Amino acid sequence: MSARKPPPECLSITARILYRQAMNDTTLAFIGGGNMAGSLIGGLVADGWDPHHITVSDRDPEQLDQLGKRFGVAIHPDNRAAATGAGVVVLAVKPQVVEPVARELADLLTHQHSLVISIAAGIRSDTLRHWIGERTAIVRTMPNTPALVQTGATALFANAMVTAGQRDIAETILRAVGLTIWVENESMMDAVTALSGSGPAYFFLFMEALQKAGSALGLPERTARLLTLQTALGAAKMAIESPEEPARLRQRVTSPGGTTERAIQVFQQHNFDELVLQALEAAAARSDELAEQFGNP
Ligand SMILES: NC(=O)c1ccc[n+]([C@@H]2O[C@H](COP(=O)([O-])OP(=O)(O)OC[C@H]3O[C@@H](n4cnc5c(N)ncnc54)[C@H](OP(=O)(O)O)[C@@H]3O)[C@@H](O)[C@H]2O)c1
Repeated sequence: MSARKPPPECLSITARILYRQAMNDTTLAFIGGGNMAGSLIGGLVADGWDPHHITVSDRDPEQLDQLGKRFGVAIHPDNRAAATGAGVVVLAVKPQVVEPVARELADLLTHQHSLVISIAAGIRSDTLRHWIGERTAIVRTMPNTPALVQTGATALFANAMVTAGQRDIAETILRAVGLTIWVENESMMDAVTALSGSGPAYFFLFMEALQKAGSALGLPERTARLLTLQTALGAAKMAIESPEEPARLRQRVTSPGGTTERAIQVFQQHNFDELVLQALEAAAARSDELAEQFGNP
């Protein structure tokens, strides 16, 4: 497993053929051209996807203009015009805007048998199917913020209408911004949201706390910040590149009677594992609540 997306040349020959085929055969429409769409388009174009096969619509003409100029993709102020003829339509608007957009495109997407990929947090595939059409092929995805720097972690779920070829295409598209992993049961998306969706903020919180503690121990602010950030990067890189579990890596750097052991004892005395579990349970419960609010067909 790699935290960065595997570049196309690292894929197996079959995967590379599928990748090239997807790039040549697929016409893609992004509805909503904000942060996430921009990152995905940037990743796809950098991977060799033909920008002429990509159309974007957004209600902000300036945003559209920038995307057109930056990546050479086709732009359209009208969602239906952008989606017309697209084999794959990526819904990249904020969750609260998904319903009107889905309803606006419903008959067109049904008529074209487009694959619909949603990156919107908390909208279930059944809710989308209810808004668009019962037989719609839908891949619901949950990317996270590091996708903006092409180091995202995205879980994908495909409904029963999605073909094997469509799964490959969806995976290829999301891999443009980092790691992809399929979940076979959509109910797992609440746990995914709690872990990787909200996860970057937990790491930021921990970095914040480390930095503050370093300053409290007398380090200049800049020194505490740089040491915190590089330590986070180094630990993540080691954990990703090592075949060993994080627990084993931790044991290796915890000498009996040493400084690390003393600090970890303090974390454990305060039930660190239990605290993390409670935090994730709270996030997963909130994710479920939000999905109920967005639509309960
Ligand atoms: N950013 C992340 O890190 C992240 C992580 C995981 C999932 N996501 C999901 O990704 C989706 C997009 O997030 P984002 O951060 O890219 O949001 P964003 O930057 O706000 O992009 C959404 C874009 O859609 C436009 N829009 C609004 N209504 C529209 C309509 N009816 N038709 C066409 N375009 C419309 C918005 O224009 P206005 O600005 O004028 O409204 C905006 O440019 C969200 O559903 C979010 O849950 C994002």
